[in-house]
Amino acid sequence: MEATLTARLVVLVSGTGTNLQALLDAADDPTWGAEVVAVGADRERTVAEKRAADRGIPTFVLRVKDFPSRVDWDAALSAAVAGFEPTLVVSAGFMKLVGQAFLDRFPMVNTHPALLPSFPGMHGARDALEHGVKVTGCTLFLVDAGVDTGPIVAQAAVPVLDDDDEHSLHERIKVAERDMLVDAVGRMAREGYTVTGRRVTIP
Ligand code: GRF
Repeated sequence: MEATLTARLVVLVSGTGTNLQALLDAADDPTWGAEVVAVGADRERTVAEKRAADRGIPTFVLRVKDFPSRVDWDAALSAAVAGFEPTLVVSAGFMKLVGQAFLDRFPMVNTHPALLPSFPGMHGARDALEHGVKVTGCTLFLVDAGVDTGPIVAQAAVPVLDDDDEHSLHERIKVAERDMLVDAVGRMAREGYTVTGRRVTIP
């Protein structure tokens, strides 16, 4: 008898959760290879958390300000995530950096709305627009101790149009970002991945 293992994803969110929704929809197909077993947020009453709760997926909220220090928050986040025994943690619009203790415990990917290493940080779409690039995009990377510096898993390019503002550009990036995320996480779940230096390959 052949056993099929489905990867267990814990998804961390902060906002509207359209990337989370794409993962939830993908997981409806059992051949995708992964399921979302829990969703964690760093703030209360996000649309993202509601998307998970509407599907009966366990959610938790851990706010930095409710802990005496960032290290305590990181430990609480680690404990909450560990309880769901994830194969992979997906940061999907999660607007917090996690600490080394968390990263030592779980493999984690993050999606960013720019073609890294260009335009890291909180405002990837705005910074690309202000710089005047004609092509930007999105990046999925393995999280390391830096800010948007980890080994790159996948990227997709998106044109910048002359009449773009930050919102229109970010929304166009997010369409590509959702497809990239679903495709790459599914392949990582089904096939595994190898990291050699900075190079990530999915066999
Ligand atoms: C995404 O573009 C993500 O890369 C950025 O914020 C956006 C989150 O969108 N950090 P959503 O909450 O998944 O809709």
